[in-house]
Amino acid sequence: MTVISFARGAPAPELIPAADLAECAYAVARREGAKVFAYGPGGGYGPLREWVAEQHGVEPGRVVLTVGGLQGFVFYAAELLARRPGRVLVEAPTYDRPLKILAREGAEIVALPMDEEGLDPDALDAELGRSSSAPSFLYTIPTFQNPSGRTLSIERRRRLVEIAERHALPVLEDDPYGLVRFEGEPCPTLHELEGGGLVTYTSSFSKTAAPGLRTGYFVLPADEAGAFEERAVSTYISPPFLPQATIAEFIARGHFEPNLERVRAELKARRDAMLDALTRHFPASSSWSRPEGGYFLWLELGEGAGAAELAARAEAQGVTFVRGEDFFPQSSASGVTSARLAFSYERPERIAEGIERLANLL
Ligand SMILES: Cc1ncc(COP(=O)(O)O)c(C=O)c1O
Repeated sequence: MTVISFARGAPAPELIPAADLAECAYAVARREGAKVFAYGPGGGYGPLREWVAEQHGVEPGRVVLTVGGLQGFVFYAAELLARRPGRVLVEAPTYDRPLKILAREGAEIVALPMDEEGLDPDALDAELGRSSSAPSFLYTIPTFQNPSGRTLSIERRRRLVEIAERHALPVLEDDPYGLVRFEGEPCPTLHELEGGGLVTYTSSFSKTAAPGLRTGYFVLPADEAGAFEERAVSTYISPPFLPQATIAEFIARGHFEPNLERVRAELKARRDAMLDALTRHFPASSSWSRPEGGYFLWLELGEGAGAAELAARAEAQGVTFVRGEDFFPQSSASGVTSARLAFSYERPERIAEGIERLANLL
């Protein structure tokens, strides 16, 4: 029995445009020669930096290409905690890896509640009014959040920006899923609404091209880009240029948008298969989010149902998922009846089968 994975927050191999990327890699390596095999600017490959800058309406010097978005999170957190020591505000639940990084940095993590419309701005405002000491920064994933699949409503985006401006609160907007929207209208980013003075925007090519290229990017406030780039230089001297140049070539050859369309259609079919199977097989006592994009949905099993115990029994039946409690700060004891289900990795028919197997264990 092969394992059906709802745990892997990764694109399935068939979602990766490997043949086109291979041609692009070969072409740039031949054309640019030693340039892409040498050390270079810590902020990354110039033409790709320029493309990202143009997409976000900033100077290329404000863009730093990182070795994946997560590596950039390490730089950002270290820089902000050094410059503005204080508690770090996160939404709960949130992406588990930043929680681990923040704990390792010794940061005090304050988890703010969210609901179906995303982070609760009143809770943010109250937290900022609660103490006279300013927090270091807010970390938020407003669109198709990992792990919940939820999206911050436009009203709340405006409120969040207003609150951040009133308190001069730096915000890190992590948005690797925004472009993989397969339904509904796109929302303006916090970065667009605020203008990029307080909000740092980060995304990555992991979900729009391929995660193995390890290329993420940060769009930073003008006075912060230099220090951020310096952290990159003192960590790895310069990033690998071949993957970054490969992406630039992929874009220049016109592959980016058509590939995105294909990925969106695939993800929609997978999301539909998961929603359909949940509706057919899961009891009325459970509920789930209905994301219009991204990779994940959030399952509430209902009172009295332990996700940890279900995960253990499911694994024995060849189905994996991540327990909800992994996405809350340790000791919070939240998320024990919740689960993150990724629909990005399995084909629709396997998703249907996996959900039915899970339901039979309830
Ligand atoms: C919310 C979020 N941020 C950042 C990342 C990091 O992605 P990468 O380092 O591949 O760019 C992920 C990966 O799944 C993610 O879900």
